[in-house]
Amino acid sequence: MRVFVTGGTGHSGSYIIPELIAAGHEVTGLARSDTAAAALSALGAKVRRGDLQDLDGLKEAAADSDGVIHVAHRQELLPSGGIDAVAAAELPVMLAYGEALAGTGKPLVAAGSIGSPGNGRNLGRPATEEDPALPGGDEHKGTLRARNVVETAVIGLAERGVRSSIVRIANIAHSTTDSAGFLPTLIAVAKEKGFAGYPGDGANLWNAVHVRDVASLFRLALETGPAGRYWHAVENGGIPFREIAEAIGTRLGLPAVSVPADELMLPGYFGFLASVVTLDFPASNLITRRTLGWEPAQPSLLADLDNGHYFPAS
Ligand SMILES: NC(=O)c1ccc[n+]([C@@H]2O[C@H](COP(=O)([O-])OP(=O)(O)OC[C@H]3O[C@@H](n4cnc5c(N)ncnc54)[C@H](OP(=O)(O)O)[C@@H]3O)[C@@H](O)[C@H]2O)c1
Repeated sequence: MRVFVTGGTGHSGSYIIPELIAAGHEVTGLARSDTAAAALSALGAKVRRGDLQDLDGLKEAAADSDGVIHVAHRQELLPSGGIDAVAAAELPVMLAYGEALAGTGKPLVAAGSIGSPGNGRNLGRPATEEDPALPGGDEHKGTLRARNVVETAVIGLAERGVRSSIVRIANIAHSTTDSAGFLPTLIAVAKEKGFAGYPGDGANLWNAVHVRDVASLFRLALETGPAGRYWHAVENGGIPFREIAEAIGTRLGLPAVSVPADELMLPGYFGFLASVVTLDFPASNLITRRTLGWEPAQPSLLADLDNGHYFPAS
């Protein structure tokens, strides 16, 4: 298959491209700079110069391909506009792909997120691939749900003859090249504050996945995934936040300490992560495994903390 990939220089994309090429696909990656172009070439991809803001260029690239994987995101919008701004910028991109691919039956696989029902709330069970994207809007500001307008739009393209699907990526995606995810951030905060904090009793569940397993799931969704489906790129279940803090603390030789879940203490310790650290994200991957034959095969979060990248020997 000739696959157009955006975000190929990023954490997930840099694993997705080799995964596709190893499976015999021909990949063209979007590059907005010489540095990105060189990185894509080094991964074995052809390069298409362009930017996410050039919707006509994206339409052309999608029309020229047999399928699209979209994992680029305008992360530079996060500091000023939060996830709402990232989502607002992403929606026209998805609609542009929709115009290019409508009626073709070609696959479009885009990144989404495992959502949470919000602070102090949970579904009472793990979220499944049959749970639709939860509604966005003011009530949910600051949670991962605000991006779900994008997920809904992508799933909606199935009705227009696009084999569209969303891979919901765990909130912690780990690997030996994870430089800007939640884990390096939590480790940096623990070092700065002198202890590994967890909110309240730390019983809220976070989920994780190895990025190599994310890559194999994107490939399977592209190759065989039915239209209009969500897939869960998560190690099954979830991990109590407290266990993550304890694992970080042990490796840094620092204590794991509860941070009272109030409006002053949480931002005081977690900074911009304060709005998400208390959320519960339990999620199942059963439907993904059964439908696509995906099996997470890489080290789990706690095992991967010892891969030498997160805590380099000094
Ligand atoms: N735990 C997780 O990591 C997690 C969880 C849930 C969802 N997700 C989602 O999964 C997707 C992939 O995340 P990631 O961590 O792999 O991304 P990342 O490492 O932050 O990489 C972002 C990619 O987007 C590209 N990009 C940014 N702005 C662009 C623009 N204006 N034009 C063209 N390309 C642009 C970057 O290219 P340059 O090299 O040019 O900068 C880079 O390849 C994102 O949508 C993210 O929100 C991730």
